[in-house]
Amino acid sequence: MNLTNRSLVTIDDLSDGEIEALFSLADEMAESPADQAGLCQGKIMASLFFEPSTRTRLSFEAGMLRLGGRVITAVDIGASSLAKGESIADMARVVGSYADIIVIRHPWEGAARVVADYAGVPVINAGDGSHEHPTQTLCDLYTIRKEGRAIKGLRIALWGDLKRGRTVHSLIYALARFGATILFSAGAGLEMPEHVLRKLTTEYAYKLTEVKTLDGEVKRGLFPLDAMYVTPDSPHQLAMLSDISDINIQIQGVETLKKHGIDAWLHYNVSENEFEIKLKRAEIDTLYMMRLQKERQAPAAEGQELKKGYPVVDKKLLRGKMFEKTLVMHPLPRVDELACEVDADPRSMYFKQAAYGVPIRMALLAVLLGAREVTIPEEEDSLIPKIDYPVYKRDSGVKCPNRNCVSNQETEVRYMKPEFKIVSREPLTLRCIYCDHELHPQFVASSDWHQGKLENKKYHSADSQFGRKIRPANLIVFASEDEARTQQFKPSSHIRP
Ligand code: NCD
Repeated sequence: MNLTNRSLVTIDDLSDGEIEALFSLADEMAESPADQAGLCQGKIMASLFFEPSTRTRLSFEAGMLRLGGRVITAVDIGASSLAKGESIADMARVVGSYADIIVIRHPWEGAARVVADYAGVPVINAGDGSHEHPTQTLCDLYTIRKEGRAIKGLRIALWGDLKRGRTVHSLIYALARFGATILFSAGAGLEMPEHVLRKLTTEYAYKLTEVKTLDGEVKRGLFPLDAMYVTPDSPHQLAMLSDISDINIQIQGVETLKKHGIDAWLHYNVSENEFEIKLKRAEIDTLYMMRLQKERQAPAAEGQELKKGYPVVDKKLLRGKMFEKTLVMHPLPRVDELACEVDADPRSMYFKQAAYGVPIRMALLAVLLGAREVTIPEEEDSLIPKIDYPVYKRDSGVKCPNRNCVSNQETEVRYMKPEFKIVSREPLTLRCIYCDHELHPQFVASSDWHQGKLENKKYHSADSQFGRKIRPANLIVFASEDEARTQQFKPSSHIRP
């Protein structure tokens, strides 16, 4: 496949082979930056940053300038016509006629996809709300690779605000594709969203196992006792990796954890009749921190509460045996979760991660603009075969449950219909194509009602035998029974109380 003129909205827009090829090109860019100055001469990059940014914006702009291109910028919604109520689609069409490539950061989830749909030029997502930040993932994986570590089998702990941190969302999809073992250790109330975990299991065949302490507490220095543990469950995309002997892992208890070099013991809780796994020691290859995404928390008070139990990386923690060879990573900016006293520690990677932003983004801009070619023969690549889910798109019916999704915004609903992938029928699960949030409608009907007679215009429970049988092309879903009735559907006998 060829990367010219493509957009990068989610990390899944790049195959594993393309990611590797971009890394090789970034090596080249870093080695001889002066030789790249003619590559994008005459090209213009529009840099639209409608949320604060230092590293991402400046490394994109520096990258484009180093490639000999030019940059036009808009950095404040208040100073653009979006403040006058202009839609993102209109803005995209216009900017696409001024620039050869668009880099966009926007607070709404799914905004970058809309820009990519309308701009007519390649679009790069530089962060859309809490959804994704794929170019940060490229910097993260590149850093790990530059330190001589393989992603396959890497034991990586993701720590902090996993709920709203967009960098970790893109990162885990890529880690899963390359076969890493991931430990989630979220701050209290900041756990990885359900839809992200589900995507891990449905798209990447990962298996989730919860590992809890008996008292439910995360004790300082005893890392990580309260965690979600994720491992590859099936061979899926490990084809490019030579050693695939430890695939098909089933976490069934201590033995499997031991197989991964994680020392653990089982504890049987008599009153709950439950087995729990305690970790004695877990050597962590990489510790990836996130700051609390304060600006995305609803009320200010909530931010204060969440801050209380927030994990901190400092010298004392890194003295632990399990961190001996740990790469400490952070997309930055940091606040209180990462002590300055560890900056000089050779395990600290975050300033390198930020510096790699320039060669990585140079490589990406050059290939999307067609100034350099990266073509990976399909048969040699290992893109996870995208599951071809049926699409649900109708005028009436359900909305994305995520209020921050671009499809729910006043300026966008004028021209845009909510759109979902039907990812499961049991239970019926629709995934928003813009932000990946999911919903489970309870009531359904068929647009092909029996003999077209109005008296046969019936709705059913989604999980009834009849409801499950409706073909995707005919499926109509309702948020409630009231809505079904408003649309003149009558209850069928397939309604569960
Ligand atoms: C991150 C972002 O904007 O999502 N920063 C970055 O791009 N390097 C992380 C953050 O803001 O916490």
